[in-house]
Formats: sequence, structure tokens, C-alpha cells
Amino acid sequence: MVRKVYISGRMLPETEARISIFDSAVMLADTVTESTRTFRHKPFKLEEHIERLYQSLKLVRIDPGMSAEQMLRTTLDVYEANLDNYGPDDDCWIVHNISRGIAIAGADPTVQAGAATVMIFTQFMDLKPWARFYSEGCHGVTPMSRAVPSQSLDPRIKNRSRLAYTLAEMEAKQVDPMAQSVILDLDGHVSENKGGNIFCVTKGVLRTPTTVNCLAGISRATALDLARKLGIPTEETVLLPYDLATADEMFFTSTPYCIMPSTKFNNLQVGDGKVGPITQRLLEAWSELVGMDIVAQARAQIN
Ligand SMILES: Cc1ncc(COP(=O)(O)O)c(C=O)c1O
Repeated sequence: MVRKVYISGRMLPETEARISIFDSAVMLADTVTESTRTFRHKPFKLEEHIERLYQSLKLVRIDPGMSAEQMLRTTLDVYEANLDNYGPDDDCWIVHNISRGIAIAGADPTVQAGAATVMIFTQFMDLKPWARFYSEGCHGVTPMSRAVPSQSLDPRIKNRSRLAYTLAEMEAKQVDPMAQSVILDLDGHVSENKGGNIFCVTKGVLRTPTTVNCLAGISRATALDLARKLGIPTEETVLLPYDLATADEMFFTSTPYCIMPSTKFNNLQVGDGKVGPITQRLLEAWSELVGMDIVAQARAQIN
């Protein structure tokens, strides 16, 4: 079935969906975004994603032309219109991109010439790029480019202005094609990955940076909640590369893979170089929470 996408009030086959070359998404990367995933065809924490979307919209002063409640209903309509595209063992992304609309090139980029461009689509959840890391762990690498300072763009605004993070990820992957970026802020503190949050476990305490320098990831919040339920102490704090290099365990969190273990940091072995027990317990607890084996689903895609 041809995928149907939503664009500013209309549901269309994807081949018919168009935006202007003058849209602020293209002209200025002036776009906020959300990416939700499904587990067993059930959207996970969609309300939380929509809440974060409306916080981003408020901060960037884009009026999407509909309430959060309407956005939720529209999103579920788009999802349901595409459900037939996903097999019983598949899941999908549900993505929102909302730009300010047509941008008139000229002296004042803040003028909103018309309505916002609201785009919603679903996409097969391809887990192949991450599947091997559940057992092997990935390699965290610090790129030379630093995070955009919070003073310039608050990292809690989930935006599509991604040149800085794309470059950082490329730099990490030039060191090791299997690398995942561990982006530092201007002070040299650990901030986040181009699409994920960063955790370590030291002497039984699960630690992650505060949201002063990273996105308030929904997976980050889920990992912290699960840890509290399992009685694992947690700490939101300043982390330096030293803390990752000397940690017992390390992992990333993000919507598609939930938890991605990391067994190497800048070529130094993390802990004993194996996926650690707290990381495993959190992954198992996550699978229980969503009623399916997250790791088995990803592995099935590469077997
Ligand atoms: C920069 C950045 N940090 C962290 C995350 C993880 O957020 P979430 O867990 O809500 O997917 C993302 C997700 O895309 C991101 O883009």
C-alpha cells in the first residue's frame, strides 16, 4: 500500500506531498520535530512526545494551527491510515516536522508569511544499524565539533537544525565507522549523541548529564524511571570524558533502540569490555514494560 502522509490539513500519497522551495524548513532549517516509535503496533508515550513538541513550538514561536489534542488525533489518524504497511513483527516511526511555513528571503526572517507547514509521516522501524550493539556494544567517540551551546539554542527544543550534529557524527565515524558520537559542550562536559542521551554506571550508580546541555529525551526519562523501580540509584550530574572512561558500564538511550550498550570509549575499554549487568537489567525491564523482546526484534532483522 502506498504510504499516506499528512501535510498541512491533507492526507496524501507520499508521492503527491510537496513543500515549497521557499519553506522555512529548507531556507532556514527553521523546524521543530518529534519522533515516536511503536512497540507491537502501539505508539509509545505519544502524549509525552506531543507535549514536548508543543513546548518546542512555544519556544520557537511557531503556531501549528491546531491544539495538542487535535495534533494527537491527527497523528493517530495518520498512523492508522498506514497500519497495513507494517507486518505483525514490524514497528514504525511516527515523525512530526513542523516549520514556520513560507519564508520570504530578505531582511526579516522572523516574518511568518502564512500558516506553518505541518508534516506527519510513518516509516518502517529499521533496527539493523543497532542490532549488533546489544551484544557487542558500540564505540563511543568524542568528535572535535562541540555541542551548540545551550545559551544559543536550548537543547530541550527538539529541532531539525542538524548541521552541527551531523558534522559531529561524521567526525566520530571517521575515527571508527562503528562509532557513536559522544558530543562535548564548550566546557568539555559530556552532553549527548546526535540522536541520543548518554549514561554510565559507576559503582552501582546510574549517571547521566542534566538537561542543561542535552535534550530531555523520552527514552532518558524511561531509563531513569525503570532504574528507580529496580532500586538502582540514579544521579543527574556533570560528567566528563574521564567519568565515561572509568565507568563500569556505559550506554546510549534513544527512541528506536531504547538502550544501546557501549563497551569502548575513545578506544578505552569500558569496565570489563562486555555489556554490563545493569544495562542488561534495564533492557529487560524495558522489554517487560512494552510487552515484547526489544533485542529479539532487532536481531531478527539481521538474521
Ligand atoms: C539530540 C538528541 N538527543 C537525544 C535524543 C533522544 O531523545 P528520545 O529518547 O526522546 O528519542 C534525540 C532523539 O532524536 C536527539 O535528537
